[in-house]
Amino acid sequence: MINTKNRPDRHNEDIPVGKTVAFCRCWQSDKFPYCDGAHRRLNSEGDSVGPVVVKAVAAES
Ligand code: FES
Repeated sequence: MINTKNRPDRHNEDIPVGKTVAFCRCWQSDKFPYCDGAHRRLNSEGDSVGPVVVKAVAAES
């Protein structure tokens, strides 16, 4: 899939410690850069894509 919706190609996000966030990798989410499940439609059409899920953890001191 390519960036057909002209989403920005870079985001800087602060994630609070303990929070889990799913970032879109298919470029089709209406909540970009967050996954909204739009990748499921692509997968039903033969693609194989999904979000990257990140959990913020406290840095070790
Ligand atoms: S909507 Fe793009 S990866 Fe889920």
